[in-house]
Amino acid sequence: MSVAKEQIQPEKTFTFTNDQTGEKWTFPVIEGTMGPDTVDIRSFYEETGMFTLDPSFTSTASCKSRITFIDGDKGQLLHRGYNIKDLAEKSNFMEVAYLLLYGDLPSREQYEEFRKNITYHTMVHEQLQFFFRGFRRDAHPMAIMCGVVGALAAFYHDSLDISDPRQREISAHRLIAKLPTLAAMAFKYSVGQPFVYPRNDLSFAENFLHMCFAVPAEPYKVSPILADAMDKILILHADHEQNASTSTVRLAGSSQANPFACIAAGIASLWGPAHGGANQAVLEMLEEIGSKDRIPEFIQGVKDKKYRLMGFGHRVYKNFDPRATVMKESCDKVLAELGVKDPLLEIAMELERIALSDPYFVERKLYPNVDFYSGIILKAMGFPVEMFTVLFAVSRTCGWISQWKEMMEEQSNRIGRPRQLYSGAQERDYVNLEKR
Ligand code: CMC
Repeated sequence: MSVAKEQIQPEKTFTFTNDQTGEKWTFPVIEGTMGPDTVDIRSFYEETGMFTLDPSFTSTASCKSRITFIDGDKGQLLHRGYNIKDLAEKSNFMEVAYLLLYGDLPSREQYEEFRKNITYHTMVHEQLQFFFRGFRRDAHPMAIMCGVVGALAAFYHDSLDISDPRQREISAHRLIAKLPTLAAMAFKYSVGQPFVYPRNDLSFAENFLHMCFAVPAEPYKVSPILADAMDKILILHADHEQNASTSTVRLAGSSQANPFACIAAGIASLWGPAHGGANQAVLEMLEEIGSKDRIPEFIQGVKDKKYRLMGFGHRVYKNFDPRATVMKESCDKVLAELGVKDPLLEIAMELERIALSDPYFVERKLYPNVDFYSGIILKAMGFPVEMFTVLFAVSRTCGWISQWKEMMEEQSNRIGRPRQLYSGAQERDYVNLEKR
């Protein structure tokens, strides 16, 4: 791999000064291969007796990673150095999953072997289907996913030894392979149809669509347009640096928890509407607005902070979300090829137009993110809104497990243990109940 190692520059340091006492503390600055320099404050508490406060990690690097790079001002997203646009246009999800997991694009031989490994792990233990029956039919599929993915640890004992690299690899393959099967089962369960087993002659995206939309009563032919769009959606969601769910996976993994439990934790974090749940929230918002003439009223409500414009804004991207650009192109193509005329799309386009020109959104650098368009494509494909975040989880699993694998391969892997700025009561005497 031609990636230079990040290094501590002995000549680069950063000095903190206590304005009251004039005391100074100097810390090394670490230079990454790209992105801002980073002050190494690991000994900050030991040396100064103080903590630093950064509750939502706006200025804190939680780890070193070689997997994904984002430059939010330029709207740049690279996986192992490869531009997301190139990957979405020229690669496929299996290749991107390999790239994230192993660091380089595969040779033909490596690709075939990886594809075969994933394909032959797509079936889930037959007993797992009984878990689904424990859920109500109207259960949110993300609730089901939190449960059944965590439950995988109860079925695959032979890959739970996290100190063994081969077992870690098998777990990674199992997770990437079985997530679509479990997601499709959650979907089938919600619509009361029989589960459809995976098919080894189909690609990853085709197999997923087949498991979701085939029924035993008649043959189902996967549309190449939909398979291509699904593959793009999977690529665009595959990894995104240290976002909330990935950080959750890493933090869970830092306690030496097994990978299935860690990914279940990631799924729980992804579910929230500020994160992966936004794709569902976008569609619900468009439905709530209902018609173009209600947009000004809605926009005013956003400005009055009654609600947020879902699918807009990003903690890191302050220019544009490069995933959204590709997703929009894909969205236009799918809708045109399927001949779908969705009135919600018109509302979406008008919202986008207003938000991109209104000073309120421009000043706050609020641009459409990937979730603004993905829901529209998924709806056109026939998925109900509740499935949107599940699809995100299917794809992001390869990013999560690559990040987990990278963390487990590090020599010193200490448990993550944030500290706090305590603002509660000071020590006080206990008062008996009758005296309170
Ligand atoms: N609609 C209206 N105002 C917004 C929005 C929005 N979507 N996002 C941020 N703002 C405003 C916010 O009110 C604040 O304004 P002010 O300065 O007047 O107080 C300012 O912009 C900064 O907001 P913030 O909450 O500090 O920004 P953040 O970096 O903490 O939040 C975010 C990032 C993605 C959670 C947020 O933009 C948001 O809630 N967006 C809608 C949900 C969404 O689309 N999420 C998907 C993100 S992309 C996929 C993924 O990561 O899963």
